[in-house]
Amino acid sequence: MTVLVTGGAGYIGSHTLVQLLEDNQQVVVIDNLSNASVESLVRVENITGKQITFYQGDVLNKALLQKIFTDHDINAVIHFAGLKAVGESVQQPLRYYENNVTGTLSLCEVMAQFDVKNLVFSSSATVYGDPASLPITEDFPTSATNPYGQSKLMVEHILNDLYRADNSWNIAVLRYFNPVGAHPSGLIGEDPNDIPNNLMPFIAQVAVGKRPSLNVWGNDYDTHDGTGVRDYIHVVDLANGHLKALQKIATKPGLVTYNLGTGNGYSVLDMVQAFEKACGKTLPYTFEPRRAGDIAACYANPSKANAELGWYASHSIDDMTKSTWHWQSNNPNGYNSQ
Ligand code: WQD
Repeated sequence: MTVLVTGGAGYIGSHTLVQLLEDNQQVVVIDNLSNASVESLVRVENITGKQITFYQGDVLNKALLQKIFTDHDINAVIHFAGLKAVGESVQQPLRYYENNVTGTLSLCEVMAQFDVKNLVFSSSATVYGDPASLPITEDFPTSATNPYGQSKLMVEHILNDLYRADNSWNIAVLRYFNPVGAHPSGLIGEDPNDIPNNLMPFIAQVAVGKRPSLNVWGNDYDTHDGTGVRDYIHVVDLANGHLKALQKIATKPGLVTYNLGTGNGYSVLDMVQAFEKACGKTLPYTFEPRRAGDIAACYANPSKANAELGWYASHSIDDMTKSTWHWQSNNPNGYNSQ
């Protein structure tokens, strides 16, 4: 099978490429490298000993997509390409809607033109807003509080309408919880452009000495230690969810939606402690006011993905912190470390 992977040079994309190649799939990657490095693809080739066909460009570029679909016999698309910083999306809503919504429209139009109607889409647990109860199942109400979340929700609605209009599409919408960790080789991992917004890369940069201290946003939440609770999921488990979703799509299920989370909630301080164990250092932090827009707690009920995809998250919190430390300590400046 030949799989087109949009955003394949990014964090989750690169880890998924490793598994696709190890599964003997052919892969074609399109990535505009706006928040990714071509070095990640070189490293995926080193890990797997296999070749990747790479197009540097944008999913908004329909002519380029048409060339890719003309030159390759694509069977399915995994669509990772998109912008993902919540705060930035509030500042630059048009850029977010253009990239995430118009980009997906462009991709789906070209897919339809070439009669390739198998799609795996990267959605997010952010579509659940502030859930009324926990754990979260796929039938919970959806809402969005920022343009990033809104763009994911809009694409979900568009894909639902697309499937309703033409049920020859097979679409897996994957709602990710909080992806963390890195490949066990330490060769690929998360490499944020700027000051990390997300907890794990920030902790990793404190551990490696790039940042003096972690700001813990709020210690007065209604959680076991007052800090925010999330469902951190190892990126290798998450990547595996995409292979399982491709297998599901091959059974022509129509449009299916799955939570990809572990079902466990860990607090900010739980993550700090686990990271201290992994790196053997004490990590300085201070308590700061709550971050605007944050919720107290969020974790998945992953039973649907367990039952229907045969997918289970198998990596522990220690696997998450150890592999992050392995990547970060070997690559203190990410892909620019060489
Ligand atoms: C986790 C916890 C923070 C940083 C966001 C998006 C979501 C998504 C994943 C997109 C919270 C606390 C964080 C820090 C801290 N998808 N924290 N100090 O907010 O659950 O989700 O990223 O890519 O759509 O909303 O993840 O990692 O930012 O925060 O105390 O420096 O860590 O308050 O409790 P979040 P996060």
